[in-house]
Amino acid sequence: MAPAPRTPKNEKGLEGVVVARSRLSDVDGAAGKLRYCGYEVGQLAERCCFEEVAFLLWHRRLPVKDELVALKRDIGAARDIPQPILDLMRASPRDAHPMTVLRTAVSALGAFDLDAEDLGPEALLGESTRLLGEVPMLAAAWHRIRNGKDPVKPDPKLGVAAHLLWSIHGKRPTALAEKALDAALIAHADHGMSSSTLVARTVTSTGSDIHAAIAAALGALRGPLHGCASERVMDMLIRIGSPDAARGAVEAMLGAHGRIPGFGHRIYKEHSDPRAAILESVAVRMATKAGETQWIDIARALVDIVAASKGLHPNFDLYAAPALYALKVPQDLFSSVYASARIAGWTAHVMEQASDNRLMRPSERYVGEPPRAVPGKP
Ligand SMILES: CC(C)(COP(=O)(O)OP(=O)(O)OC[C@H]1O[C@@H](n2cnc3c(N)ncnc32)[C@H](O)[C@@H]1OP(=O)(O)O)[C@@H](O)C(=O)NCCC(=O)NCCS
Repeated sequence: MAPAPRTPKNEKGLEGVVVARSRLSDVDGAAGKLRYCGYEVGQLAERCCFEEVAFLLWHRRLPVKDELVALKRDIGAARDIPQPILDLMRASPRDAHPMTVLRTAVSALGAFDLDAEDLGPEALLGESTRLLGEVPMLAAAWHRIRNGKDPVKPDPKLGVAAHLLWSIHGKRPTALAEKALDAALIAHADHGMSSSTLVARTVTSTGSDIHAAIAAALGALRGPLHGCASERVMDMLIRIGSPDAARGAVEAMLGAHGRIPGFGHRIYKEHSDPRAAILESVAVRMATKAGETQWIDIARALVDIVAASKGLHPNFDLYAAPALYALKVPQDLFSSVYASARIAGWTAHVMEQASDNRLMRPSERYVGEPPRAVPGKP
């Protein structure tokens, strides 16, 4: 169990502020552990599939066989995207960031969902299931549309990980690639009160609909301090080019008072982010298979140098980037792929918030001008 939060050092960034009681993930920074509903994320990544973990987050227990079959069937049946949404995507500029298009498409999708106004538990569960079919499909569809191709015909028989790779590349993934992405998706399925999760819960707390909550969360995940860090990591690894150049690159980044993407975390101060080890193993497996281990080698070289010079540990994104790169996912699609995984956690938080809601309305400390009169004619 994670220890009680520390007293905030300052009032910026909501550090140490508890905004909800949650039964979903236990982010234990002091021990460097992450558990979903009591299960260690590393064990889940080894022994379960992503759909089982989504079920776990939604029901707080693992599914029995029939429940898993039914969930996979329902997710698989939800991949047909309404034509007006595809038309909206086709009308977007080709160089629009995939997360911008995804956020817009999810928001628009809300208008097509017949249960959009229903915040009851059954309706929310149905919408969450559909979003888990739709969001990965939208992410991949945009990649194909911007390259002048049609989205693939959805295959209801494939699981989320295999379908994501199939719908990006238009060819069936190997069992190794499917398992690797599945583990990566599990590691990203939920992460306590991350910035995007807070946003989703805040929107839900106003009584608004689940598509509004998820669109807002996607907006938060888009930022480079949060989900888009993996895209920055890959830029950095490519720029550095070889492990020998890592020290000079770190000195240059720190000398310019820059942030090194893939390092540091609000919660994991004393230990590495436990998800980093899962992603490292995925990245090593896939890169070894592809015969391209140089990005992992650079990332590993950075770990020692950054620890020695700044005392920072790697986070999820340091290895998430080379893992997806080895899976041949386009670099600017990394965040959309990880957003597809986080749908499981965001929707679980939406349901948890809705089930015991109180409007999220924090306070500020006013530090502006003292009361004064508006100048005017006498
Ligand atoms: C994730 C992150 C925003 C969390 O930061 P935080 O808890 O709010 O920490 P702060 O922004 O208060 O930073 C504390 C100190 O560590 C430094 N720091 C934190 N992360 C750093 C990084 N990646 N590179 C260089 N310095 C970093 C800050 O500059 C600051 O130093 P100072 O006290 O000398 O000014 C931050 O670590 C970061 O920007 N990381 C890079 C982006 C990234 O990988 N994001 C993905 C997170 S999963």
